[in-house]
Amino acid sequence: MPNSPEEEYELLPTTEVYTGVDNDGHIPRFKRRSQKLSFVYRHPKAVLFTSIAFFIGALIFMSYDILYLKAKLAITGSYNAFLHNLWPVGLPNRTDMWENENSKSMQALLSCMSTDTCTQNQTSIVLLSSMHFANSISGHVSGEDIWASSVLDALRDMGYTCIFTNTNEELARTYRQYPDLVKIVILEGSASHECFKSEKCIKKPTHPLGIPAWKMFSFHFWGGAENPLGNAWTLSPENYGLISPGNSKDNIYLGYSIERQCMQIPVTPMHERPRQAYILAKQSRYFYGNDYAWPNMTYDDPPFDVNIVAGIAMNNSEPGQVLPSGIVDYGRLTKEEFYAHLGKSRVLVGIGKPTLSPSPYDALCMGLSFINPIMSWAKDDPENRTRWQSQHDALKFLDPPYVYNVRKGHVEAFWSALGQALDAQIDRYIVPQMTMEALKYRVARLVEGNWKEKAIKLLEERKATGKGEYVIVLFYLWIEMDIIQTT
Ligand SMILES: *[C@@H]1O[C@H](CO)[C@@H](O)[C@H](O)[C@H]1NC(C)=O
Ligand SMILES: *[C@@H]1O[C@H](CO)[C@@H](O)[C@H](O)[C@H]1NC(C)=O
Ligand SMILES: *[C@@H]1O[C@H](CO)[C@@H](O)[C@H](O)[C@H]1NC(C)=O
Ligand SMILES: *[C@@H]1O[C@H](CO)[C@@H](O)[C@H](O)[C@H]1NC(C)=O
Ligand SMILES: *[C@@H]1O[C@H](CO)[C@@H](O)[C@H](O)[C@H]1NC(C)=O
Repeated sequence: MPNSPEEEYELLPTTEVYTGVDNDGHIPRFKRRSQKLSFVYRHPKAVLFTSIAFFIGALIFMSYDILYLKAKLAITGSYNAFLHNLWPVGLPNRTDMWENENSKSMQALLSCMSTDTCTQNQTSIVLLSSMHFANSISGHVSGEDIWASSVLDALRDMGYTCIFTNTNEELARTYRQYPDLVKIVILEGSASHECFKSEKCIKKPTHPLGIPAWKMFSFHFWGGAENPLGNAWTLSPENYGLISPGNSKDNIYLGYSIERQCMQIPVTPMHERPRQAYILAKQSRYFYGNDYAWPNMTYDDPPFDVNIVAGIAMNNSEPGQVLPSGIVDYGRLTKEEFYAHLGKSRVLVGIGKPTLSPSPYDALCMGLSFINPIMSWAKDDPENRTRWQSQHDALKFLDPPYVYNVRKGHVEAFWSALGQALDAQIDRYIVPQMTMEALKYRVARLVEGNWKEKAIKLLEERKATGKGEYVIVLFYLWIEMDIIQTT
C-alpha cells in the first residue's frame, strides 16, 4: 500500500503541477488527494463497475465516430467521382491549347480543394487575358510571345493557377466565377481602357463582381503608360525606367528570361565556328530608309575574311531594292534553323531595325557578340549613353566583347568592331536581370503586391492635382475602396 505522497503522485498522474513544500514543511495538495483517494481503496467493486461502464460508453462513442467518418468519406468520394464532369480535359496530352490548359488547371484546383491538398500558391489565380499568353503556348514567337512565355513559366514554376481568356467578355465572365481567388489580371493596354468603360467588365455598384481597377495590369511591349491607372499599372519587358526615364519612369519592369530555352542549345566552341557574321534582319526593307544603320556600306569587299549571312523571311522592300551584294541569304528559316545558323556564327550584326528584339539576348547566351548601332546621340555630349538612341537600348550600357556600340554610318568603325568580334573569345552570357530567378522575383512581387493601397494613394494624388484620367478613375476607385461616403 502506498504510504508516501511521492508514490501516490507517481501512481495517479495529474495535470496539476507539483509546486513543492510550503512554509510549514507540509505538502497540502497531496494530503488532500490522499483523503479523497481513500474512498477508492475502500470500495474497489464500485470503482471496477464504474470503469466498465465508462469503457462501454467509450466503445459506443468510438464506433459511432468511425461510422460517421466512413459516411463522410463516402460522400467526399462521391463528390470526387463527379469532379471529372466539371471542366473535363478533352486532350490530356496536348499542352498547346489554352482552353484545354484552363480545364487542366480547374480540374487540379477543384480536386486539391476537395481533398485539402492544394500546394502553396495553387489557390491564387492569375488571369492571362492578353492573346500573347495563349499564342506563346501554341508556338508563336514574336517578341511579345516570348515575353509572355517566360512570364507564364515563372508563374507556373511558383505554383500559381494560370487561366487564359482572350476577350474582355470572356475575362469578365471568368472573373465573376471566383473573384476572390484572382490575384491579378494581365491584359492588353487597349483592353484595359475598354474594360474601364464597360458596364460589364469593371467593378461598380451595378456590377459588384466586376474586376476592380487596381487588379488590372497592361501587358505593353513599348515605353509609356498604357493603362487608365498610368505607368505604375503598365508592365514592361525592358527596364524602361532606365532606358527612357522620360515617359516610362514608373513603368513596372517585369522583363523576361530566355535562359531556359537558350540553355538547351549547346555553345559551339569559337574555334569550331567559321568566321561568320549573322545579320539581324527578317525583312528586306530594313536595308533601306532612314532607320538603316549602314547606308554606305558594301558587304562584298570586306577588309578581312568573313562570311556575312542573313535569313530574310519577307521580301518587302520597294521594287528594285535588292539585298546588298555580299550577303548570303538563307531565306525564311524555322526557329531551329535560325538557332543552327546563329550557333555557327561569331557575331550578330544589327542594322538599325528591329528595335529591342529578343534575338541579341539569344546570341549573347549562345556565345556571340552583338554589334549595336547607335542611331542618334547628343552632338554636345556624344559619349553620354543615356542620350544615345540605339537599336537595342537595353544593351547600350554593355561593352566589348559582349556588345560593340557603333555609330550609324561609321563604316570604318563598323569593320573594326566586326574584326574584333570575330577574334574575341567569349562564352555564354546571360544578362543578370534576365535569369529565370530574377524574373521569378519580379513576377512574385507583381502578383503579391499591395496594389489596392497603391491605388488609394494614386487616387489621392489625382484628386489633389486633377491630373490623370481623373473622372473615371476617381469614380471607380471610390466605389471599389468603399470610401465613397467619406468624399
Ligand atoms: C498520352 O500520354 C500517356 C502517357 O504519357 C500515354 O500513355 C497515352 O497513350 C497518351 N495518349 C494519347 C491519346 O496520345
Ligand atoms: C509561392 O510564391 C512565392 C512568391 O510569391 C514563392 O516565393 C514561393 O516559392 C512559391 N511557392 C512554391 C511552392 O513555389
Ligand atoms: C552615303 O549614302 C547616302 C545615301 O544613302 C548618299 O547620299 C551619300 O552621298 C553617301 N556618302 C558617301 C560618302 O558615299
Ligand atoms: C526574296 O527575293 C530573293 C531574290 O529575288 C530570293 O532569292 C529569295 O528567295 C526571296 N525570299 C523570300 C523569303 O521570298
Ligand atoms: C548624361 O545625360 C543625362 C541626361 O541628360 C544627364 O542626366 C547625365 O548627367 C549625363 N551624364 C554625364 C556623365 O554627363
